[in-house]
Amino acid sequence: MQVISVVNRKGGVGKTTLTANLANEIANMGYKTLAVDLDSQADLSKIVRPYQVTKPKKPLPHYQPKYTLEDVVLNQIPLQDAVYKARENLYGLAGSENLTAVVNKKNKLALRKALGRKDAKDFQVVLIDHPPAMNRVAQMGFLATDSVLIVTDPDFFSSDNITQLVEDIKKIKSRPSGKRKKGKGLKIAGILLNRFDTRRNLNEIMREKMDDIFGGMMFPRAVHYNTAIPSSLYYKIMVRELIWYSPVNFQIREAAKELLNRNGLSCQGGVVAK
Ligand SMILES: Nc1ncnc2c1ncn2[C@@H]1O[C@H](COP(=O)(O)OP(=O)(O)OP(=O)(O)O)[C@@H](O)[C@H]1O
Ligand SMILES: [Mg+2]
Repeated sequence: MQVISVVNRKGGVGKTTLTANLANEIANMGYKTLAVDLDSQADLSKIVRPYQVTKPKKPLPHYQPKYTLEDVVLNQIPLQDAVYKARENLYGLAGSENLTAVVNKKNKLALRKALGRKDAKDFQVVLIDHPPAMNRVAQMGFLATDSVLIVTDPDFFSSDNITQLVEDIKKIKSRPSGKRKKGKGLKIAGILLNRFDTRRNLNEIMREKMDDIFGGMMFPRAVHYNTAIPSSLYYKIMVRELIWYSPVNFQIREAAKELLNRNGLSCQGGVVAK
């Protein structure tokens, strides 16, 4: 199992949208994938949700799963009961408004423990959608994580914010795995530039600046600004499920492949998922 946190302290950069769509791409490549919502806004399960209709003409109705991450933390509900199936190979663990209030020093290992239990072993890739903060809930996520994907926009302040974020993440210990009782320093899988607008000169300048500062940490291909993304959120579906084709489908798929590669996982498909 590879557990990847999708993070940025800054709000609105596309963490939730990309967690959902990357998880869907990875599931499509044959990995049994779980998307976990750590954000009290609980937006992830609005998209990572059971979906039967093809190409809906109006938004899907609200989906309320039976359990949320709060039940795992407070009531130790086993993961196999708390998760729901959203698509072929794609599962979700919903967030809850109360999460910030219920996570404390004593239970902050709850997610790591739940993912470490036998009933979670089948999940091959876990993507965790973080809140736009480095709070206790985020800490719970980091304690369960192997590597981090930073999602950013090409904003003027973003490179400074990421420099600080990278420093902060390096100080965090990863999920212990194998015989290791203690985690090593968290690995940063990379930085994915989202909402990149080719029509804006300043965006190109910011991309060059980020390439200079972060070098190989940057994913080679950005996800562009595209109205397909807000449209897909309106319908509560994945971008690739929209009735029309958008170039962001390809960009998100490439980002998913890059993410797998950087975590030592093949993206050739052919993985036998249970
Ligand atoms: N590539 C994109 N092109 C156009 N709009 C985008 C793109 N990515 C995200 N958005 C829009 O930006 C908004 C914020 O996206 P999202 O909720 O995924 O960000 P977030 O980082 O999870 O926010 P928060 O920090 O509040 O949780 C949404 O309205 C979404 O439609
Ligand atoms: Mg979000």
